[in-house]
Amino acid sequence: MAKRTQLIKPRIREILSHELPPELVNTLPKHWVQIGEVLILPLRPELEAYKHRIAEVYARVIGAKTVLRKGRIGGEFRETNYEVLYGSDTVTVHVENGIKYKLDVAKIMFSPANVKERVRMAEVAKPGELVVDMFAGVGHLSLPMAVHKGARVIAIEKSPYTFSFLVENIELNGVWDRMTAYNMDNRDFPGENIADRVLMGYVVTTHEFIPKALSIAKDEAVIHYHNTVPERLMPKEPFETFQRIAKEHGYETEKLNELIIKRYAPGVWHVVVDVRVYKR
Ligand SMILES: C[S@@+](CC[C@H](N)C(=O)[O-])C[C@H]1O[C@@H](n2cnc3c(N)ncnc32)[C@H](O)[C@@H]1O
Repeated sequence: MAKRTQLIKPRIREILSHELPPELVNTLPKHWVQIGEVLILPLRPELEAYKHRIAEVYARVIGAKTVLRKGRIGGEFRETNYEVLYGSDTVTVHVENGIKYKLDVAKIMFSPANVKERVRMAEVAKPGELVVDMFAGVGHLSLPMAVHKGARVIAIEKSPYTFSFLVENIELNGVWDRMTAYNMDNRDFPGENIADRVLMGYVVTTHEFIPKALSIAKDEAVIHYHNTVPERLMPKEPFETFQRIAKEHGYETEKLNELIIKRYAPGVWHVVVDVRVYKR
């Protein structure tokens, strides 16, 4: 892969050096993200006038059908809303760790930086256990558990559009016998005291959902609690907040593991803590 990239970069530079002012050639993106057949390019503002041509050249040389301009991810559904620079079809199937993820890359977040966590979830799951994924997306974290470990999964996703891909992915990966999807706000999910494992793959406001996760969990269960944490509060956070809220709801906690997923913003990290909870 690295070798391919080394060959691609000079080729792109060579083509565009005939078309761009010389001072702009050095500002061409040196890194990009490829999800299935869709490319996400970080483009600097000074390249605005040339953005469509640049996208076309990257698409042709790398071999992508569509190119998007990297932008901000935001809102309750963590939508991307990336600008389409080249091509039109933003839906693709991305294969990672033997899992087929179909998604609309222009609208739905799929972070390459979370790959380790998606792989790790396949490793920690146990055959037959019941996993409730409270923020399922297109099955980012829970498909690997159902596919590779034979875990039973209840996947809850609030956005109707993202949910439509979640349902397709359950079919695509042949796990309809053990994975069920619900299009609802996880706060309205009626299941109580059912899960061996709960996934809380969300950021910024995840702590607000801890009481619900505890009510879904069995009296003894493991919760994978993600959140964004200012660096100055680490390493005490985010476990301290989880522990406090769990205690208020009658649970003891044991921290099993803690990992940094990625930098979320300057001075803010996306962290995951694996917590074993016991009802007192
Ligand atoms: C950031 S994505 C993460 C996907 C995956 N869990 C991961 O960590 O890679 C979070 C997903 O949770 C969904 N979501 C947000 N609030 C929700 C809620 N209250 N109930 C169910 N789904 C929700 C969003 O629509 C989005 O698809």
